[in-house]
Amino acid sequence: MQKVIEALAQQMQADLAGVNSKETLAGFWQTYLSKNGKVPGLMKELRNVAPEERPAAGKIINEFKVQVQAEYEAAAERIKAAELAARNAAEAVDITLPAKTRPMGALHPLTLVRNEIIDAFAGMGFEVFEAPEIDDDDHNFTRLNVPKDHPARDMQDTFYLTDELLLRTQTSNGQIRSMDCMKPPLKILSPGRVFRSDSDATHSPMFHQMEGLVVDKGITLCDLQGMLDELVKNLFGQGTRTRLRPSYFPFTEPSVEVDVSCFECGGKGCSLCKGTGWIEVLGGGVVNRHVLENCGIDPDVYSGFAFGIGIERIAMLKYGIDNIGLMFENDLRFLKQFQE
Ligand code: DAH
Repeated sequence: MQKVIEALAQQMQADLAGVNSKETLAGFWQTYLSKNGKVPGLMKELRNVAPEERPAAGKIINEFKVQVQAEYEAAAERIKAAELAARNAAEAVDITLPAKTRPMGALHPLTLVRNEIIDAFAGMGFEVFEAPEIDDDDHNFTRLNVPKDHPARDMQDTFYLTDELLLRTQTSNGQIRSMDCMKPPLKILSPGRVFRSDSDATHSPMFHQMEGLVVDKGITLCDLQGMLDELVKNLFGQGTRTRLRPSYFPFTEPSVEVDVSCFECGGKGCSLCKGTGWIEVLGGGVVNRHVLENCGIDPDVYSGFAFGIGIERIAMLKYGIDNIGLMFENDLRFLKQFQE
């Protein structure tokens, strides 16, 4: 029996040398330790051993069994460790590799200006009200006190879609639309795109405006000037002052053009303000009583002010942009200059 076991031990060591994976380990177990394996086979051999030698033989078989089991477990540990090391190596992350950079975007200058205007007025209780870009003649002109054949229609070259429908020429349609669905007191800002058949370095067939409208009891031109003072300080800096000049718009009476003191030279006169110290920035006035009447609001009880700002014009002044086309080309070299 001793000899048989020695031979088997040698073979086992040889087989063990070939155990290097879960599969070969399972094969080893099958060969030696499974029910029909070689080690239980030795136990069966014990039957053929003379009775007086059986205890000694049984003992060495047992010792061998323990040894094979220990070898099996050690091999299992080895294989597990090797597989873990292989997996770690495969999943290793090279933290020295440079990260992928994602270029940061920036808000468009028109968005920056629009947000600044909204921020200034939101603090005074205004809400944003959006009106349609395609509207009818009624909301864009007639009810704003610009009847058909009124010469003021010549001020704006209109894109007509049909006899009645048009691309709005001004955000002033937001005045009528808001008064149609809200009761005074109301304070709205209506930003958006407007369209006119006009194109040169400072005009584009599509551009942006921001309309403002306040309707309440006892509103006067002073309220307009007070609120615009706040706005221009926000847009152009604390020292900026406003000046109202008489003007004409069909939907306001009186109407004004609003100038700001030149933020470039502080009012002394420079090329930006063409030596005058003042820059025109928007139009406005006291809402014409006909407009209130056209919206079912009694002008003897309520009054209001309105204004309209060209966003491109403010952006061009503020950032020193000399051609309006730059704002619509989306050239990254231009847009990147507004990155904060
Ligand atoms: N809608 C005018 C324009 O496009 C701007 C304007 C002027 C709007 C006076 C107003 C206003 O609300 O009161 O030229």
